[in-house]
Amino acid sequence: MLLAPALIMSISYSHDMATALLAASGAGLWMLDRRYPDAPTPGAELFFTRVFHGITRLAKYSLIWIVAAGVPRILFYRDYEWADAAGDLQVIAIIIKHIVMFLIVGTGLFYWAKLGRKARELKLKQGMI
Ligand code: HEM
Repeated sequence: MLLAPALIMSISYSHDMATALLAASGAGLWMLDRRYPDAPTPGAELFFTRVFHGITRLAKYSLIWIVAAGVPRILFYRDYEWADAAGDLQVIAIIIKHIVMFLIVGTGLFYWAKLGRKARELKLKQGMI
């Protein structure tokens, strides 16, 4: 039965796609912040809070998806992705890659929280909360 392995591999690879989506939402947040004017109009403030809210939702779903798809990936890694030529060294490579990933995601979360405070202040001002 080929369906189960194909499904498992698709879910495993979707871990990478979700990472790309998280990276894209980080880039979106960064651009939103960089393009934010020094003296914003009420329209620009509203635009900021709405887009921030939308991107935040996308980033949260991507993160949940990354962790969820990471579980079958690690469970079935030996069955479908293990490279004999690389041997045990690939385990070290996976750990190093993930340390780098966690550092990047951590930096993103810090930046996200910073922008979140700005969005909250604006929402308070706009009477949205
Ligand atoms: C913020 C969290 C994470 C990010 C951004 C992330 C990102 C990535 C990326 C980009 C790859 C592909 C690397 C490559 O093909 O060279 C990968 C592979 C992998 N991830 Fe994650 N990952 C995260 C969390 C997790 C978690 C929680 C697990 C396990 C429960 C996991 C298990 C794996 C496995 C088994 C692989 C395949 C090995 C490899 O190709 O390096 N990941 N991850």
